[in-house]
Amino acid sequence: MLYKPTRVRRRLRGQSIPSPTAECLSKGGWILAAGGKAYEMANVTVIGAQWGDEGKGKLVDWLSNRADVVVRFQGGHNAGHTLVVGDQTYKLSLLPSGVVQGKLSIIGNGVVVDPWHLLSEIETLRGQGVAISPDLLVLADNACLILPIHRDLDQAREAAASNKIGTTGRGIGPAYEDKVGRRAVRVADLEDPEALAAKLDRLNAHHAPLRSGLGLPAMDVAALLAELQAMAPKILPYARPAWLLLDEVVKAGRRVLFEGAQGALLDVDHGTYPYVTSSNTVAGQAAAGSGLGPRGPGYVLGIVKAYTTRVGEGPFPTELHDEVGKHLGEVGREVGTVTGRSRRCGWFDAALVRQSVALNGISGIALTKLDVLDGLPQLRICTGYRLNGAEIGHMPAGLSAQSRLEPIYEEMEGWSETTQGARTWKTLPGNAVKYVRRIEELIGAPVALLSTSPQRDDTILMRDPFQS
Ligand code: GDP
Ligand code: IMO
Ligand code: MG
Repeated sequence: MLYKPTRVRRRLRGQSIPSPTAECLSKGGWILAAGGKAYEMANVTVIGAQWGDEGKGKLVDWLSNRADVVVRFQGGHNAGHTLVVGDQTYKLSLLPSGVVQGKLSIIGNGVVVDPWHLLSEIETLRGQGVAISPDLLVLADNACLILPIHRDLDQAREAAASNKIGTTGRGIGPAYEDKVGRRAVRVADLEDPEALAAKLDRLNAHHAPLRSGLGLPAMDVAALLAELQAMAPKILPYARPAWLLLDEVVKAGRRVLFEGAQGALLDVDHGTYPYVTSSNTVAGQAAAGSGLGPRGPGYVLGIVKAYTTRVGEGPFPTELHDEVGKHLGEVGREVGTVTGRSRRCGWFDAALVRQSVALNGISGIALTKLDVLDGLPQLRICTGYRLNGAEIGHMPAGLSAQSRLEPIYEEMEGWSETTQGARTWKTLPGNAVKYVRRIEELIGAPVALLSTSPQRDDTILMRDPFQS
């Protein structure tokens, strides 16, 4: 028999909590599930449905209010999530966006963690008045570390390549390579100096020829070991078996909000390979990258920008090199948070998002940056592509085919009124409503939320993902 969370709550109110995490969870009203009982999950997974920078951070912050725990499950500090609350702007790369609302935040095993960056981000956020302590932040003890050798390799390869990926240069790819190569230093290794020293020797054996081939100096193993040992006491208080904590949290009927980084078209399998990041960014990864089972991800909320952007190299069929592209970049302030690069801009690509809906099992979308289209007299939506004289409705896997796609557009009238800061559906101009409805039709998923400015509260709720 399945117990709905409300029934579990009623049955179990007042029981004690045999868990080291009880203190922080009980602040939100911890409810303990009976051992072995089945329970219904009311989780939400937020993922980027395009090429990243769709506004995931803003929506995760907004939804955090309704969640108990926020979990990052892939990527690293290549992500840049911007949250605007009143006159405060928070820029998060590695920390789950739930920290700003004081929610228990977990960095899952699927994330690659630069420990120096983590400590500096914690300090920056503390400087902005955000409370971060081991009670509120948990780092999976089986997550792999990004070391300076990974950043060196990432940057040296990009500098040497004739076909650059346009990475963020933060060592993400090389760190994942060492993870799947079974050489990586994991968080738990920091508490075992002998294991750590052996791991660094192993890494050195692998990296030495790569470094010399790229003209990089040899790795100073002793210095790196000393640095990691000195840092260990600052990192280890956050380290725990995150999978176990999540298991307890879910059995207690608590709500988990997963925060994806990057976007589906940057997924290492499903994206525009090789112009992708080195992790699986799709919703399915929320389970593997956190240690929660496949039922964990729950409602999948795709974050979709009302037009398209991409930062870095790679195919982009609806890219605009004209005044409209410039307008979108300027009004949308499309400058990368991590690297300061200008984002490439183009029309909304419904074929691409339709693909993303399928790849992620998207239940509904949050459409962001509608306000950036204010004042454009004519809008275009790409409904499919022409390739070698035939029409196709999806992005093919081959790079050469991807770069030869000609978008098929339909035109819509724009609106002269402003949507910026709109907080109700009723106040949206008629043509903006038509645009949103047409997007829903073309991608085959309903709009659950609309965002009309960077501010947290400039958000329209159509359907609550936690109640769906
Ligand atoms: P993320 O990586 O998906 O979290 O997105 P980023 O934070 O990198 O980029 C989105 C940018 O758009 C940020 O600067 C946000 O503050 C901003 N933003 C988010 N939603 C809206 C919106 O509805 N309208 C406008 N104008 N800006 C938005
Ligand atoms: P958020 O979470 C947009 C892009 C890089 C590059 C490619 C590979 O803010 O949406 P990497 O450093 O990961 O090896 O770079 O992926 N990229 C992003 N683009 N948003 C991101 O994150 C990105 N993270 C990586 O620009 O093209
Ligand atoms: Mg971003």
